[in-house]
Amino acid sequence: MVELQGVSKTFFPNTPNEVRALRNIDLTIDRGSFVCVIGTNGSGKSTLLNAIAGAFLVDEGRIRLDGVDVTRWPEHRRAKLIGRVFQDPFSGTAPSMTIAENLALASRRGRPRGLGLALGGRRRAELRNRVASMGLDLEARLDNPIGTLSGGQRQSLTLLMSGLIKPSVLLLDEHTAALDPKNADQVIRLTQEFVSRDKLTTMMVTHSMHQASHLGDRVIMMDRGRIIHDISGVERQRLRPEDLLARFEEIRRANQLDESAAEMLRQQYI
Ligand SMILES: Nc1ncnc2c1ncn2[C@@H]1O[C@H](COP(=O)(O)OP(=O)(O)O)[C@@H](O)[C@H]1O
Ligand SMILES: [Mg+2]
Repeated sequence: MVELQGVSKTFFPNTPNEVRALRNIDLTIDRGSFVCVIGTNGSGKSTLLNAIAGAFLVDEGRIRLDGVDVTRWPEHRRAKLIGRVFQDPFSGTAPSMTIAENLALASRRGRPRGLGLALGGRRRAELRNRVASMGLDLEARLDNPIGTLSGGQRQSLTLLMSGLIKPSVLLLDEHTAALDPKNADQVIRLTQEFVSRDKLTTMMVTHSMHQASHLGDRVIMMDRGRIIHDISGVERQRLRPEDLLARFEEIRRANQLDESAAEMLRQQYI
């Protein structure tokens, strides 16, 4: 379960570059819920996920994960409660280490170091099964460096690794955006499988209206640091990509109106 209460974050406060990236966000995500996060560029989607992960401390508000108040916890301390996959397939794994070593590291995340990278027989067999279940024929390549895999394969493994510790929340930030359509479909299929198998509480940022209306059980739309739509239940079940596009069009018009109002004010007062 994820709970945000009155969370705000301003970058470069009190300067001409001030950005109010999160404005008084209240959000509760039930355990096991899969939420798609959409919104225009710069609306605060990544900042929302980064605030939960602890990439920075928020200015105001509280953040709880499975009831634990992590608001003041640094990022590394939150890591044992959080799984993350980013857009860049090269960011989640260590390229010169083998698949097996990467998996071993991932399954120990948040625990003391110094246990060595060798996988015991039983654990290795278990991880091999998990890799085999992805259907990518990687189980025979456990001792190959991750750097030899394609972007899609790496992203699939990063996803598998981020779920190994059964995180309180899995944060996916446009994790298929850098892949070609075939690999993107593959990673989406795995995302669905892992999330439903382990009942992971998940937040997935996506630009795809198709993904947002087909995956998960809730959609939140952000605009200028706020959550402006929160769609769940029957409304979410009936949701079509066109409905989401229409809401984007509404935002665009509203922002244009704001722009022209601002312009009129500028004309008057300059
Ligand atoms: N670390 C940061 N430092 C300064 N500004 C940032 C930082 N992260 C995000 N921003 C700004 O906050 C706003 C929201 O960004 P972001 O959350 O990345 O948007 P989105 O993911 O919805 O495209 C943008 O104006 C962006 O430039
Ligand atoms: Mg982003």
